[in-house]
Amino acid sequence: MTLLIKEILKLKPKNQLVTAEGWVKNFRANKFISLNDGSTIQNIQCVIDFENFDYSIIKKINTGASLLIKGKLVKSVGSGQEIEVLVVDIKIYGESHPEKYPIQPKKHSFEFLRENAHLRIRTTTFGAIMRIRSKLSYATHKFFQNENFQYVNTPIITSNDAEGAGEMFRVTTLDPKSPTLEKNNVDFTKDFFSKKTHLTVSGQLEAESYALGLGKVYTFGPTFRAENSNTTRHLSEFWMIEPEMAFFNLEDNIDLAEQFVKYILNFILENCINDLTFLEQRLYDEEKNKPKNERNEMKLIDKLKFVIDNKFERISYSEAFEILKNCSKNRKKKFKFLVNEWGIDFQSEHERYLVEKHFKKPVVIFNYPSKSKAFYMRLNDDEKTVAAMDVLFPGIGEIIGGSQREERLKVLKNRMDQFSVSHDDLWWYKDLRRFGTVPHSGFGLGFERIVLFATGMNNIRDVIPFPRTPNNALF
Ligand code: 4AD
Ligand code: MG
Repeated sequence: MTLLIKEILKLKPKNQLVTAEGWVKNFRANKFISLNDGSTIQNIQCVIDFENFDYSIIKKINTGASLLIKGKLVKSVGSGQEIEVLVVDIKIYGESHPEKYPIQPKKHSFEFLRENAHLRIRTTTFGAIMRIRSKLSYATHKFFQNENFQYVNTPIITSNDAEGAGEMFRVTTLDPKSPTLEKNNVDFTKDFFSKKTHLTVSGQLEAESYALGLGKVYTFGPTFRAENSNTTRHLSEFWMIEPEMAFFNLEDNIDLAEQFVKYILNFILENCINDLTFLEQRLYDEEKNKPKNERNEMKLIDKLKFVIDNKFERISYSEAFEILKNCSKNRKKKFKFLVNEWGIDFQSEHERYLVEKHFKKPVVIFNYPSKSKAFYMRLNDDEKTVAAMDVLFPGIGEIIGGSQREERLKVLKNRMDQFSVSHDDLWWYKDLRRFGTVPHSGFGLGFERIVLFATGMNNIRDVIPFPRTPNNALF
């Protein structure tokens, strides 16, 4: 049986015959093949004696070609690797044209690799990122399952706008050229679902329904936002993890968020150290040319350890507001948006100031002004703020948004009115408050944002296999 290269690299070399399959990373001196199969960042060196093989074979061993190699596993005489395979037999699965193959053994820009996202996974960097992504995903399930959460799958096609921001992609089978009209408006009763439907912006509302029966649940699924944000932090399609817990208040919610993030980061430290070490070096090399104040103060692995080992700072919106209002940057009018009036939305420059300059660690801000947050958040006794919380990370900004939910029917109805949320559409959501309502809470973690943080990458487009962003749905 063919072993993975990861497994072969763990064997003791005893001249035994091994079989490896993979793609050629590099072929040097007509002799040394670096083969990688994606199971590990490490390549296996296969040494081929070109005198024993037909030139017609040798000339097909190009970067990107796929091979099956049988050979003897021996201690390596060269430096750089402990063991190597002395090739006995070789089969070329698929050739790769030496000039036309886009992924040459040299440094490519990330822009170029995005245009070749179907092949970029064969680079060392993307292999490392995507293995870490996979492990973070596994750790997510492991964490919640260990904590007695049930995994639920909430619908992707929905008629509700959970966040009320109206940033939804419509789902329709109406003819775009001549939709059925009713008094000049599109008649959605003639549409596939007999109503207006969209791709979900969050599974939260349905998760709440399940939490009020299963107790503790989580979703982990694709999420869609039609916001026109062309930033390095926004995707039009991303993956969100949304735990929802009956009988949890805001503090329990924050505790869980902190515990969860630390758990999954620790999991990759324990399981992906080779990939992390490579990405740490990549980031270090990239930042060498930047002015000192733009570089990360910590190297990647130290940064992950720092987050795991230190308690997140927890401050209320009002406390954060005071810090920002009185900081010298604000007084010197160095913020683009000045902090002067309680109730303003913090911009990313403010969040970054708090996280990167003031506290220098992850910060949880809670109790936001009620008017700036979604209708479902629980109104605090001051009636000015809601039991909301955002977790902000250095270099990223918001990675988690959550809240205690409004469980009191009367208050919920008022908030729905304030935000012009349709009572008809959400009749079932109100039912949850009518029958056996309980205090409950939850949050959403943008999965790609934590992958971004964990890998030290700069652009969210590089931590999801095939990014969807405004004007781009290639592949
Ligand atoms: O803060 P948001 O909008 O919260 C919700 O959707 C709630 N329903 C979550 C809940 O309480 N169950 O989004 C949650 C997180 C953000 O903190 C951010 O990390 C991520 O989702 N996110 C995005 N990630 C990538 N691209 C985008 N366009 C994102 N929008 C939000
Ligand atoms: Mg948010």
